[in-house]
Order: sequence, then structure tokens, then C-alpha cells
Amino acid sequence: MRLLKALGKINSERLTSFHMPGHKNGRLIGESLKPFLAYDITEIPGADNLHHSESCIEETKIAVSEYYGSKVSEILVGGSTVGLISAILGATNRGDEILINRNAHQSIYNAVELNGLKPFFIAPEFDDHLSIPIGIDAHRLRSRIEDMSAPKACVLTYPTYEGICYPIEDLIDACHDAGMIVIVDEAHGAHLKLFGGPYKSSLELGADIVIQSFHKTLPAMTQTACIHFSVSNRLSDFQLETILWHLKALQTSSPSYVLMASIDEMLCVMETKGPEYVKWLKSRIESFYKNVSGLGTLKCCNQVNQEISKIIVSIAPEYYDNEKWNCEILAEKLRNDYQIQVEYATKSMCLLMTSIANIDDDFVRLERALGQIDVATGKSVNPLDPQTHIPLGMVYESISDPSVQVFKANEARNMTRIKVPVKECVGKLAGEYVIPYPPGIPVIVPGERITLESLRLIPETMKEIYILR
Ligand SMILES: Cc1ncc(COP(=O)(O)O)c(C=O)c1O
Repeated sequence: MRLLKALGKINSERLTSFHMPGHKNGRLIGESLKPFLAYDITEIPGADNLHHSESCIEETKIAVSEYYGSKVSEILVGGSTVGLISAILGATNRGDEILINRNAHQSIYNAVELNGLKPFFIAPEFDDHLSIPIGIDAHRLRSRIEDMSAPKACVLTYPTYEGICYPIEDLIDACHDAGMIVIVDEAHGAHLKLFGGPYKSSLELGADIVIQSFHKTLPAMTQTACIHFSVSNRLSDFQLETILWHLKALQTSSPSYVLMASIDEMLCVMETKGPEYVKWLKSRIESFYKNVSGLGTLKCCNQVNQEISKIIVSIAPEYYDNEKWNCEILAEKLRNDYQIQVEYATKSMCLLMTSIANIDDDFVRLERALGQIDVATGKSVNPLDPQTHIPLGMVYESISDPSVQVFKANEARNMTRIKVPVKECVGKLAGEYVIPYPPGIPVIVPGERITLESLRLIPETMKEIYILR
């Protein structure tokens, strides 16, 4: 019996609660939150235990593993964050060398710091027009591995936040050839299995450990996620046990049954009507692209290697105005005038995330809004100046260069810091992380020498920064 059924059964017993939680089956909790509370219970008989699962939670985990085709899967209530940290802490020993794409999520940097690892960074390739990462070059990765003396593990982000599914197999092979464990941050790829089509999960492409956020791309509640160990994983028993130990140590001992039930519910949807919903969504996205193909000033098109659920909207270069008409302003307009919230916007592009839970009316509203905004915009008067605008590819190359890493972040943590105006920080050693959110990627890491190029990544609103004295 899986979670939803087991919780439904406990519910039907209408138990008088002399157990946690303190709301006693929903009393003294406002009406708007009540619907969730039927499942907000604790580890009473019949409800199993996430950290020693034997019955309904165990069966739900097995169902997740069978659906995704892993050897073992663990469900998570602390997001991909806890899965990534546990995977890295368990797969490496203190001080080991680890290879990481420089545009990795902050949780990966935190794990590096916690285990005192020596990071080797690889700069991703960029699309210069949209300023988005589009993948990692296999030659570059191989030559970076050659710089390492005892490479232990590699963490790759796939798909990218923007949905780019670059060819990852060659990278996985190169890491395996060097004897490394491959951990993939697939926070944005939990839906790939359901969607089918050309872009596969890295679990099917040879990765050893794959971490997915269910809540980002599937109909599941925030914080729900999963860590998969692939059938052919190269982990030793000790590494696997250490990862599982970290999951227990880092996650709450009172995991939310609402969240865990949400995972089972999502799985039920994927196993039953999921493929039908995907079919509809794919055809609706295709018709969306047709319906907006006539726009003159706004551009919406599927990018090379981009999986279908993510949509990028940009402004045609001849209409772009760095101050008056960029994609951050477009996102604000969509929110304020049309009540449409995009996932994320930079000056160069707006990222929109769809899922099988979107309905036709959502797309109709988006098409109408884009159509009206498109007509209302005029010609560019202040385009991006290519002379002064440093392409992101160059910026990431400069911050991935080994020469900028003077101290490890965990070493820098114990040094004295002072605050200086951002404009005076070039050439100094960073004393803090700078992590614009979204997307939660550290653009400055403690102990790194701050380059002129890295100033491009610091938010304009940030006026001061900690440096090492
Ligand atoms: C690429 C990437 N990895 C990991 C995470 C962390 O995922 P979660 O929020 O599920 O902990 C995020 C969240 O934004 C992300 O974008």
C-alpha cells in the first residue's frame, strides 16, 4: 500500500489525537489551510517512517524508483538542496578534488565548503544574444580533468535552468574514464521521463547519482524532490551508505506527510493521465509558438537543445533599449498590467516555465499580453553597446580560471573581512558569496580574486561588498 492509500485509511479511522502535530487534526488552523491538514500526521502506526521505511513510504520509494528506472531512489522533503549536499558529502572525502560547472547552484558550493573540497571549475558555453548557458564543451572538460591530480567526483547541472539539454553523455564518459563519480543536478529535469521525446534524464545516460526537484517541473508541492542511484552506479557500498547517512542527518526527523503524500499524488498522475496531459501540453506549446510567430518586436522560439516545457521570450535587437525596454521591464509589465508572473528575467530574456498543470486559458492570456505589448513598443534608441558589454561566456571564463581561486571558501570564512564599495573591489579577495536569486548561482565565492569581468554579474542594487583584509 502506497502513501496516499495508507494516509486515507488512517484518516477514515477518525482517531482522537494524543500525538503530534499540535493542531490535533486541523483545529485552530485557518480555513484556507485546512484542506492540507488531513494528511499532516506523524509516524503513528500505519504511517511508516521516512528514515527507516518499511511499509507505505518504502512502497512509494519503490514506485518512484520503478517509474524512473533507478537502482534505488530516496524521496526528499528538503528539496534538491539536501540531495545534492548529501551526495557530495557522501561521495567525497575531506579535501578531495571535485569538478563543477561554474554556474552551479549554491547548494553545491555549500557542500564543497562543508567537506573542505578543492573545486575545479569549468566555464559553460554561452549564447551571447540571450546570455544563457548552453552546455559544456567535452574537450574543455577533459583538459580540466588533466589539471586535477586525484579527481574524485564531478557535479554537472543538466538540464540548465533554461531547459537546455546539452549532450551530457560524452562528459559522463570522460569523467568515468578518469575514475570519477558523476553526480547530476537534475533539479530541472524530473519531468523529462514523463515527457519522452529526444531529451532523456541523465539517469538513462550513465550518471551515477541524479537529484531531481519534483516541485519545479511536476505537479508536486514545494520542497519535494528525490535522489536516484543509477543501476550501473560506480559508488562503493561505503559511499552509498554515507550518502544515506547524510540524508538522515540533514533532513528533519519529522518529515511532512503532506509533502510525501504530494509525491505519491504526483506519481499517480504521471502513471495514469500523465502521458495524455503531456500530449496536450506539447501541442499547445507548438500552437503557442505559431500564434506568436507574427510578433515583430518580441521573439519567442524554441532554442537549440531546449526541452519543450521552457519558453524564452526576448526582444529583437533593433527594438532593445538597455534602459527603457529590456526583458526585466517586459517581465514587470506582464506582472503589473497582465497579472502574468514569469519564472525569471534578465535584461536579455524572460524565462517562462510550463507544466502539465497549465491550461489553455493560461496560454491564451499570455498570447494576448505578448501581442498587445508587441504592438505598443517602438524602435530602440539606446541599444546594448557591444564595445562595453562583456559577453557572459568571457565573464564565466575569467571567474572559472584557477588563478582567481586564492583561498578555498572554508579557509576564507575564518579570515578578517571589511566592507568596501563595489566599485573598489576589483583585484581584491572576496569575503562573501554574492548569489543573485533567482537563479541562486554564486557569482562571487569567498577567497576568489574579484575580476573586472565579474563586476558584470554583481546586481546593480548591491553597493558594498565584503573583501578579505
Ligand atoms: C539548478 C538548481 N539546482 C538545485 C536547486 C535547488 O533545488 P531545491 O529548491 O529543490 O532545493 C535549484 C533551485 O533553484 C536549481 O535551480
